[in-house]
Amino acid sequence: MEGYGWVLAENKKGLAARHDSPRCAKGVGKYHISMTQRQVVMIKILGICGSPVKKGNMESVLKQALSHLQDQEAVKTEIITLADKDFNGCKHCNWCVKNQSEGEFCVQEDDMKTIYPKILEVDGILLATPVHFGRLSGLMANMIDRLRVFVHGNAYRGRLHNKIGGALAVAFSRGRGVETTLSSINSMFFAFQMIVATSGMYQLGAATFSSTDGKGKVIKGVRHMALEDDFGTASARLLAERMLELARIVRAGRSGQFPP
Ligand SMILES: Cc1cc2nc3c(=O)[nH]c(=O)nc-3n(C[C@H](O)[C@H](O)[C@H](O)COP(=O)(O)O)c2cc1C
Repeated sequence: MEGYGWVLAENKKGLAARHDSPRCAKGVGKYHISMTQRQVVMIKILGICGSPVKKGNMESVLKQALSHLQDQEAVKTEIITLADKDFNGCKHCNWCVKNQSEGEFCVQEDDMKTIYPKILEVDGILLATPVHFGRLSGLMANMIDRLRVFVHGNAYRGRLHNKIGGALAVAFSRGRGVETTLSSINSMFFAFQMIVATSGMYQLGAATFSSTDGKGKVIKGVRHMALEDDFGTASARLLAERMLELARIVRAGRSGQFPP
């Protein structure tokens, strides 16, 4: 299966993707950086699922993408499902600008309190959203707005700078908003001066369709149609790999071990 310079091929773990270029000639894993000559640094990647549906299509694809990294050395992943959380959007009260202090991110007392420290400690954030009318979900938008504490906050401003961001989407139909959705998430990464990773298969991140080939048909009895999308799930795995690669490069640069 080929497309846009990417080659999809079966291997022991299912469908893998590699770019059809000399650099990636050995396929997935080529980006894996040798651990023999340097100190192993644990990389943490946090996936945040913005679907209102628990254990739905988006969550299943996100889980698969991050569990794909488990074979790699020194990687920790975690997933937060926003559907489990209770929080509102940003009220633009400017409390964070004036009063934010160590451990006190936002004046609102809600579940964002548990999410802020996790975002702070990881190297990369993979934001996964279903397409809702050609854009990210309301849940995801509310969560992103609450991250203003990391832009203008008195104690935590600039703290997402140089973290790696990846955008992942699921849509029901082709041509109905995957690119605009990924773009809306990437805009947030740019605003935070994060480093944006892409899968290369989708230029703006990674995406899957929850109907066959994105044509609006579903297979009866299949709970997660998005997992049937070989091209899309391969793009999600590649996005996770690319995030890991970039996170390692940033860590290596910071510790003076560059090039890794
Ligand atoms: C409010 C709403 C708006 C939607 N808008 C779109 C859309 O614009 N384009 C599209 O392809 N799918 C759209 N969908 C379908 C979802 O993106 C799709 O069913 C997806 O698989 C849902 O994933 P989830 O079950 O993980 O939430 C919409 C769904 C909802 C609930």
